[in-house]
Amino acid sequence: MNNLICAGTTLGKPDRIMDTRRLHWDRIFTHATDDSRLGWYEKDSSQTLKYLEMTRLSPPATVFLAGAGTSTLADDLLTAGYGLIVNDVSGVALAVLRDRTGSRGRAAWLEHDLARPLPDDLPIVDLWIDRAVLHFLLEETEIDAYFANMQNSVRPGGYVLQAQFSTQAAAKCAGLDLHRYSLDELCRRVGEQFSLIHHETYQYTMPGGDLRPYLYALFKKRTELKDVR
Ligand SMILES: C[S@@+](CC[C@H](N)C(=O)[O-])C[C@H]1O[C@@H](n2cnc3c(N)ncnc32)[C@H](O)[C@@H]1O
Repeated sequence: MNNLICAGTTLGKPDRIMDTRRLHWDRIFTHATDDSRLGWYEKDSSQTLKYLEMTRLSPPATVFLAGAGTSTLADDLLTAGYGLIVNDVSGVALAVLRDRTGSRGRAAWLEHDLARPLPDDLPIVDLWIDRAVLHFLLEETEIDAYFANMQNSVRPGGYVLQAQFSTQAAAKCAGLDLHRYSLDELCRRVGEQFSLIHHETYQYTMPGGDLRPYLYALFKKRTELKDVR
């Protein structure tokens, strides 16, 4: 899984919504001269690493990093020795991260819209982490496709960490409307194959000082279920 690039892995015919999404995010990352001014940028991953500790996973476990952006979580996980599938719909964001992390650790780079089915040959993972990606999906069919990807990608006994804008948070981010999540809705959509381990509302402080309440929820996939991939 060393530095594999799965660029342009869109299955089926080209899709206008996906292209619009990719262009939107490519434009944001192209014009971001200073990552730390992006409203969601995190250079301190400790809130996510706290949940990683709860899972008791350790290297060489493999993590799927959904919509990784340019925050420093990928750097921290690679340095610690985790295997990563680093995903983003934006090739520009992936290129920034790739240049920054260099040849450090074991990473596969996957430019792909998570509202579309993931490639069949993707390895299953021990942990799926999504901070601030799912909440951009608005159409029911896209949300369903995202959750099918998530459910199929995690091994039995593996984990999912979701961190999305809570129902109390702003209705927009990055110029886009959001689908904000209550714990009830998140649990229902994550599905019965998973049990909730821990959750909290976490107040993220934006670079400008404003607060954004995120719902953090950690789930474990039941072991008695057969993997469907
Ligand atoms: C608000 S940023 C969060 C970035 C990162 N997760 C973090 O915590 O800093 C949203 C990220 O998700 C990516 N993204 C948006 N929609 C996506 C989709 N449908 N599939 C994959 N990535 C997506 C964007 O390109 C962007 O990098």
